[in-house]
Amino acid sequence: MYQESFGTSSRGEAVSVYTLENKGGRQVRVTDYGAALVSILVPDRDGTLTDVLLGYDNVTGYENNTCYFGAVIGRNGNRIANAQCTIGGTTYQLDRNDNENNLHSGSKGMDTIVWKVKEYTDNTIALTCKSADKEQGFPGNMDVQVTYVLTQDDTLEIHYEAAADKDTVANLTNHAYFNLAGHASGSILDQELMLRASHFTPVIDSKAIPTGEIVPTAGTPMDFTTAKTIGCDIDADDTQVGYGGGFDHNFVLDKDEKGAFELFAEAYAPSTGIVMKAYTDLPGVQFYSGNFITEQDGKQGAVYQKRQGFCLETQYFPNAVNEPNFESPVLKAGDTYKTKTSYQFGVR
Ligand code: BGC
Repeated sequence: MYQESFGTSSRGEAVSVYTLENKGGRQVRVTDYGAALVSILVPDRDGTLTDVLLGYDNVTGYENNTCYFGAVIGRNGNRIANAQCTIGGTTYQLDRNDNENNLHSGSKGMDTIVWKVKEYTDNTIALTCKSADKEQGFPGNMDVQVTYVLTQDDTLEIHYEAAADKDTVANLTNHAYFNLAGHASGSILDQELMLRASHFTPVIDSKAIPTGEIVPTAGTPMDFTTAKTIGCDIDADDTQVGYGGGFDHNFVLDKDEKGAFELFAEAYAPSTGIVMKAYTDLPGVQFYSGNFITEQDGKQGAVYQKRQGFCLETQYFPNAVNEPNFESPVLKAGDTYKTKTSYQFGVR
């Protein structure tokens, strides 16, 4: 258990990085800047600890981060069309930071602030932040808590809690980029992925707002119900893949009758044998194959390139606040938003 300096932000704030460790020696590092994950160290099939998360060495890297590496996204992950939403009859204008749309809440989202550390133990850290009424345009003062737990069975649990004093959008996610062959190892295209999603939400065009339809993945490049490599269909001659420049779509997670919390994804890197199983209680996941990672310096001298990491951003569907066909992400004043997403590591 140790807290170290992660540098000083451009606003002059002291920023720290905290190490979580379980009894097996697996480590996760988290910074209070953006409540971002900095590294995830797990053994490969030979027992060598491998960092499977893309990230930066210090706060300056995270401040210049245009890819949201490892950060918590709030209050809304993904896109809201025309950067507008209507809640309880009032229309709110949000920050337009992605063409005419709002992406990941705006240019000054929760990924850009220093969070407070509420609790820190060997394998747990709880961070909190406040988002003021009309911040990024969203109604209501909101209190948020994100808790990371590195369990003894090598699972990284992410618990999200939020409450607000007005009806508002609550749809937080984490933007971790994984590379199960190691963050510095190059492309993720030969890594395998299974997504328990027999449907996805197609988008209108390359600006990536869903049409509102929920369509089957079967017979399309979006079908990951049986594991295949990420690279297999990534450059397929397919309109949807073309719009995303690869995979950058919301998958509708299959649930049992009770809608129970369950495994939704399994990823595997043949070169290291590292397996990651992902679980959530949320209805969707944005599977993003890192198509817009521009060449840049990452941690420990690594140079990251396009498609060097993949994201599984659990969420309510993109633009759900405006789309009656999608489950609503509106949190009622006084209610508590509470969700959990977990990533479990092992080897095969
Ligand atoms: C979006 C991508 C975007 C990326 C980084 C993902 O969640 O779906 O379109 O490029 O975040 O901003």
